[in-house]
Amino acid sequence: ASRVLVVYGGQSAKKSGLLDKVLALLDGAGISHQELGGVQPNPHLGLAREGVKKAIAMDAQLILAIGGGSVIDTAKAIAHGKANPEIDIWECWLGKQKVSKTTPIGVILTIPASGSETSDSAVLTDETILQKRGLNTEFNRPAFAIMDPSLAATLPRRQVACGVTDIMMHTMERYFSHDDDMTVTDAIAESILRTVKDSVFEVLKEPENYVHRAQIMWAGSLAHNDLTGCGTTGDWATHQLEHELSALFDVAHGAGLAALWGSWARYVYKENVTRFAQFAVNVMGVTNDFKSPEHTALAGIEAMEDFYRAIGMPVSICELIGRQATDEEIKLMTDKCSSGGSATTGNLKVLHRDDMKNIYRMANR
Ligand code: NZQ
Ligand code: ZN
Repeated sequence: ASRVLVVYGGQSAKKSGLLDKVLALLDGAGISHQELGGVQPNPHLGLAREGVKKAIAMDAQLILAIGGGSVIDTAKAIAHGKANPEIDIWECWLGKQKVSKTTPIGVILTIPASGSETSDSAVLTDETILQKRGLNTEFNRPAFAIMDPSLAATLPRRQVACGVTDIMMHTMERYFSHDDDMTVTDAIAESILRTVKDSVFEVLKEPENYVHRAQIMWAGSLAHNDLTGCGTTGDWATHQLEHELSALFDVAHGAGLAALWGSWARYVYKENVTRFAQFAVNVMGVTNDFKSPEHTALAGIEAMEDFYRAIGMPVSICELIGRQATDEEIKLMTDKCSSGGSATTGNLKVLHRDDMKNIYRMANR
């Protein structure tokens, strides 16, 4: 590429000197570039549209994201918009248009969390109507991702914890299914979960710990590049329910997932008690009493919530937003998540509108 649009977030890439370093390298290589900064967490459609205009005006050949999921997903939207100037990008997120070509995307990852550096997905929020939507397409896979764990050393503790929660959830969304015959995939998934669960404490204790940062960053990409989806249909209900939380309250995605997961798990675990018991023993280190799989399964859910508490994550909506959600807010999230009652979510247990409401209510403590 000889013309690059560099996309970055609020301030971290500037403050750390990374942005200047990248721009100097581009200059040194004779590559012309323009910048689009200011991407905020739960990224906005408006800024992505601005980026599309910029990319078209400069005829960008590569969209280079420096940051995490929010920046990468904005870059993905810009890349699609640049390659398809005749359509409004949001139409793709609404499923009204199909992405059939794009512009190459490069990533310099600064926070292991979303897995967007390898994933086929991109999540945007239309800030005018607080609608957060994901788009899945193979055109979302970046052409390359530079993953240097030391770039994450400046992350605040809360972002480390949110990131680890998201990485684990990408693995768990695929793990909790009815597909029981996937020994290799389970072993990969359980290894990712155990490794990240242990490494996070080392990183929180010692932010400069390169080795454990590296484990988390590598796990983050493996968790969402579909490797742990081999042989499973996946569930994704916790993610769908969370996207409504972060759209409405603008909370960090990882924290929103932690606030909901325990309630989701207690609502659905009877659909596959054995799998929840396997998770309890193989991931959470719960002792199997070989008497009651249900008892073991519930102990695993409790252990997971204890883990969230230990890394400073909320385990309820109240802990997440500092108050209970109102009935009206729960109705709004339920209506959006179920597209007015016409859509379901989840696979382990297919959730209808009333199920979604029940889970939000269970978490609303
Ligand atoms: O904006 P700056 O100043 O850069 O600060 C960011 C931001 O405030 C900060 N940060 C990033 N790297 C840093 C740093 N601070 C200090 N040092 C560093 N090295 O971290 C904050 C969060 O950044 P963000 O990009 O929002 O985090 P994350 O990677 O968790 O991305 C979250 C977004 O990704 C979506 C989420 O819904 C959310 O919108 N997701 C995207 C997915 C995908 N595309 O595959 C899948 C996920 O399930 C998720 O839904
Ligand atoms: Zn996620």
